[in-house]
Amino acid sequence: MTRPEILIVGGGMITHDQLLPSVYHMQRQGRIGEIAVCALRTRDLQPLVSGAGLAEAFPGQTFRAYPDSADPDLAQPDLFRELITRMAPRNIVVVAVPDHLHFDVIMTALRHNQHVCAVKPLVLKHEEALEIEREAYSRGLVVGIEYHKRFDDRSLMARRKYHAGLFGEFKLGSAWLLEKSYYRHSNFQNWMTTGNTDAFTYIGCHYVDLVHFITGLLPVGVSVYGIPDRFPNGNEGFLWTDARVIWNNGASLSVQNALGFPDNAPGTNTQGLVMYCNGEDDGALISHSDQYRGLKYAYTRKSGDPGATIYAEPSPDYFQYVDLGGPGLTPVGYGYRSVEYIIQSCIRVESARNLDERQQILREFDAAGVMATPGNSSYNELVIEAARESILNEGRMVDIRHAGDLLQPVST
Ligand SMILES: NC(=O)c1ccc[n+]([C@@H]2O[C@H](COP(=O)([O-])OP(=O)(O)OC[C@H]3O[C@@H](n4cnc5c(N)ncnc54)[C@H](O)[C@@H]3O)[C@@H](O)[C@H]2O)c1
Repeated sequence: MTRPEILIVGGGMITHDQLLPSVYHMQRQGRIGEIAVCALRTRDLQPLVSGAGLAEAFPGQTFRAYPDSADPDLAQPDLFRELITRMAPRNIVVVAVPDHLHFDVIMTALRHNQHVCAVKPLVLKHEEALEIEREAYSRGLVVGIEYHKRFDDRSLMARRKYHAGLFGEFKLGSAWLLEKSYYRHSNFQNWMTTGNTDAFTYIGCHYVDLVHFITGLLPVGVSVYGIPDRFPNGNEGFLWTDARVIWNNGASLSVQNALGFPDNAPGTNTQGLVMYCNGEDDGALISHSDQYRGLKYAYTRKSGDPGATIYAEPSPDYFQYVDLGGPGLTPVGYGYRSVEYIIQSCIRVESARNLDERQQILREFDAAGVMATPGNSSYNELVIEAARESILNEGRMVDIRHAGDLLQPVST
């Protein structure tokens, strides 16, 4: 597999904003081959097919679009299976469907010998993460989970200095990520409902993952208080959540999430992480403003993008297009680096000569802990499973046991 073929399953916001541009850029560099995108309905692909931003950044580049149906609203929920079956083995499936559909798409890809790059959260059940790990390892396939905050240089800096002992030991912290209210008008209203997921499961998982990534600590208990609210279509979702995550050294992290940050506020959201730590004779501190990154822009008019404001505080670090002389525009930022890292890891495994060598490389990825894999990050699924149990039971604390195969959320 020198130039792997890529099938992206899911053609929504994250595919438009990060995944497709990232793989388009790698295609332009000659590192990957054909790209296909499969959504639920033909209409869902419109923003990808006719989006001005993508056309400006990647002139002349296209993807094969599925479904390609005369009825743009005809749902074809099983088309991805047929497309995966048709792919030559040992190419790459990028999974970008709503959270509760990840497992089915990932297992279909693995059973047809495809590497997988999955958006977070990998799955909603720990047992499913273990099954994915077994299936992938036995076939020598990569499953990389796209927790892109890991590829923000500030996360890597904090991790390195924490591991060197410069922050002592994490004790108390808070993290927050509140998306703007307009998100409620998107396709989210069809799937981000109380029975499927919640604001913590959807975006809080980023910061739980990051605290492990920086410290190496493991979560041992979770409680999530959720406030149900209505989407414009009348569906109910836990659009506001307040979680508390307890770690295996006794530390506590509170995590607030919502789809409710004011549309007129300057950033695209508000987010950050503060960790108070204990050194030998003094405290230590990690404080990251992940939304305000020092830029203050006042435009002459609003762009047509959803949630655009006249005064803005854009992040240069997640995902931007810059003009490096063309052709088109170059995607930069940790959103791009994260996708590139996972795709490049799949390519590396394919350079191995046999299954033993592939498995050796997979073990290296797990041990390095830079790319999230089912083998090194399934504590995230334990947290999600415990969180779902907690939020559906008025926020009661749910313990997590880490003991070999006995890893289970346990109600207390
Ligand atoms: N910060 C992040 O890491 C981040 C941000 C946004 C979304 N995500 C994750 O990405 C995933 C998708 O989110 P989104 O914002 O793009 O959602 P979205 O609602 O905008 O898009 C979902 C897409 O899935 C497609 N889909 C649904 N069922 C399908 C099926 N059976 N076959 C093929 N396609 C199907 C829909 O057509 C749509 O294109 C979610 O798991 C979400 O948690 C991650």
